[in-house]
Amino acid sequence: MKKELRKAVIAGNWKMNNTPAQTTALINEMKPLVADADCEVVLCVPYIDIPAAVEAAKGSNIKIGAENVHFKASGAYTGEVSTDMLKEAGVEYVVIGHSERRTYFGETDQTVNLRSLAALNAGLKAIICVGETLEQRELGYTETLLKFQTKMALTNVKPEQLKNVIIAYEPVWAIGTGVTATADQADEGNGFVREAIAEAYGAELAETVTVQYGGSMNAKNADELVAKVNVDGGLIGGASLKAQDFSVIVKAASK
Ligand code: PGA
Repeated sequence: MKKELRKAVIAGNWKMNNTPAQTTALINEMKPLVADADCEVVLCVPYIDIPAAVEAAKGSNIKIGAENVHFKASGAYTGEVSTDMLKEAGVEYVVIGHSERRTYFGETDQTVNLRSLAALNAGLKAIICVGETLEQRELGYTETLLKFQTKMALTNVKPEQLKNVIIAYEPVWAIGTGVTATADQADEGNGFVREAIAEAYGAELAETVTVQYGGSMNAKNADELVAKVNVDGGLIGGASLKAQDFSVIVKAASK
């Protein structure tokens, strides 16, 4: 395993939090705290907050992401947002297939694949989420499921597009629950994801792909999690809403 082959990425996922005015205030608070980061720093924010976020992050090392994107270029898709719209607004990253989208909004492995292809073909960086439920873990399906979700998400993704792919392993039972996977469980899950990429693209390329852990990562446990060989940063929900906590996680990934 060659951790040095890939850049750690700490990405906040704000979910449905913060108005545009709150976005400006929080990013202004965060900027000096993460300025010397030696990892990629990303904030994925609600669509309506994107202009404020891009403006506030201007000239800093914070990159802005969206929390979803539609796979069609344009048309009669009420409520959806396209890759062109995101790019013109200054977005560089997009979260795809978050477990909340899968659970509450009918997202499937197929639509995750379509959204991933649209994002990558448009030159956006895709943070693709995979993860097992507690029931699936207890039944012993974690490896099978993580590999299946990873391969499905990457169907028809070209090898040269992998440089814009980040996979976030997020055990569903750890998201927003305060129950974090142990560092060993995170490392194992991320390892399964990397194995799936290796099975599809070869081991050499798989070593270069950033695989994050997500699920109740916080200022206290980040050090131990990101120290694991397969954990290349994190996708951070709750703790990304607090400037201090988020900056501690960024520092942990910068060591
Ligand atoms: P959490 O969320 O850090 O609040 O558990 C992580 C995520 O949903 O990406």
